[in-house]
Amino acid sequence: SESLSAFGAGKVILLGEHSVVYGHPALAGPLSQGVTARAVPSKSCQLALPARLNRLQREQLTAAFARAAEATGAPPVKVSLEADLPLAVGLGSSAALSVACSRLLLQAAGKAPSSKDAVRVAWAMEQEFHGSPSGLDHTTSAMEQLVLYRRKPGAAKGTGQVVDSPRPLHVVVTLAGERSPTKKTVGALRERQARWPARYERLFTEIGRVSAEGAKAVSAGDLEALGDAMNVNQGLLAALGLSSPPLEEMIYRLRELGALGAKLTGAGGDGGAVIGLFLEPKPVVTKLTRMGVRCFSSQLAGPRAS
Ligand code: MEV
Repeated sequence: SESLSAFGAGKVILLGEHSVVYGHPALAGPLSQGVTARAVPSKSCQLALPARLNRLQREQLTAAFARAAEATGAPPVKVSLEADLPLAVGLGSSAALSVACSRLLLQAAGKAPSSKDAVRVAWAMEQEFHGSPSGLDHTTSAMEQLVLYRRKPGAAKGTGQVVDSPRPLHVVVTLAGERSPTKKTVGALRERQARWPARYERLFTEIGRVSAEGAKAVSAGDLEALGDAMNVNQGLLAALGLSSPPLEEMIYRLRELGALGAKLTGAGGDGGAVIGLFLEPKPVVTKLTRMGVRCFSSQLAGPRAS
């Protein structure tokens, strides 16, 4: 019997996490790491739940899958998942999973999945995982390009505009500290913003500007300017109360190793993923691995060495 498979990329946010929730632009790119979904014919449409999930995760995943099955009108298939991406650390694993399942079920339903279709179905799944996400994660994952993403104030979701890079754009991704749930970090920030809206809006606006400037720097091939935008963005994230000692320590370590820019990526909080922008990522990964740091590198955009 025939089997189908589809891939959904993880993502890193170069600039603009959190402020994107409030309608400001953010710059994000796809990782080469992600989630692969496979389908075989079955009696009913079902998802083989990965081992080691808690009850809430099982319920969310089942509900999200049901939404995608309904939205695509897929025939009865049994779907299994495989990830080569660290899960739930701010690298877009839920969006990667949503995009992989969406593409797979669209294929199973006999539709050639366009990135637009994948965005639509994955968005329905993301509602189950996150409540009211900005839409940045699954859009980046489905478009598989560096995008400047904007969500209009008040709108449910936004759109991604592709940013071309004339130079290879490499990041080193590391993990630090104990990761806090995105919902918690986003919720706590929402409370501070509701209490002191003017002050927080100024910081969000500035992060939005820095993100737009960073996108321009990428287009112009000015990676030094992109790195500076990342460093300034990190300072603003710290001002928003989203950084912590383990994240800061890793950020300074990456800067010492020659990063053009380094910052937390994703939701931040007590721990999670930290990225550094490097012209030559390989020796950095080797050094960090020797120091016992969990890390890998990925090219987000630009010409690839053949
Ligand atoms: C999480 O990857 C990014 C946040 O900006 C939340 C969101 O965009 O929904 C923190």
